[in-house]
Amino acid sequence: MKFTYYGHSCFAIEVQGKTLLFDPFITPNPLASAVEIDKIKADYILVSHGHEDHIADLVLLAKNTGAKVISNYEIYVWLTKQGIEKAHPMNTGGKWNFDFGTVECTIAQHSSSFPDGSYAGNPMGFHISSAEGNFYYSGDTALTLDMKLIGDYKKTDYALLPVGDNFTMGIDDAVIAAEFIKCNNIIGVHFDTFGFIKIDHTTAKQKFKKAGKDLTLPVIGESININE
Ligand code: NI
Ligand code: MN
Repeated sequence: MKFTYYGHSCFAIEVQGKTLLFDPFITPNPLASAVEIDKIKADYILVSHGHEDHIADLVLLAKNTGAKVISNYEIYVWLTKQGIEKAHPMNTGGKWNFDFGTVECTIAQHSSSFPDGSYAGNPMGFHISSAEGNFYYSGDTALTLDMKLIGDYKKTDYALLPVGDNFTMGIDDAVIAAEFIKCNNIIGVHFDTFGFIKIDHTTAKQKFKKAGKDLTLPVIGESININE
């Protein structure tokens, strides 16, 4: 599996020959100005919730790439109204077998509305199992006790967790989340993009190290091979 970071909570993971793009938010992010959005390819786009900082470039990239969008039902309906028909509606607790692996929609404790304030359904995360390995993207969320279920019943090789605090869990809770899900390889997202979520990278990495876990804070544009 190959991970590529596009800033904030936008990243791609290549798995089983397919490119999965998550939470497209690039053009409004000044930190991601070097990312060439026209060059981004995707077979699937997975959307955790309706907030601007997760869907700003969703319609554009769905059209540009021809990718199939995987989201909750409310975001699916909103997309069809904008001419995006290649989409797969899901909801929390549901799973589906795609050609790259199985996606299960997990609980996220957050809120979700579209940029105009209208209802965007419940926020979600995704646990993805494939022949190449498993990973979990929690979406924007607080630390929740539900994460223990993931640790007890699923294998997770890599997890992508928000670490920026203020709008989501911060470092200390993300360490506990990593313990709950029983995963040692964490990639942090949702940090540094704006003032409220700026973090100290050294302290963050030390806290994970102290817990016997590895935290990667990716650089925008960077690709990391996450094959075990
Ligand atoms: Ni959000
Ligand atoms: Mn967010």
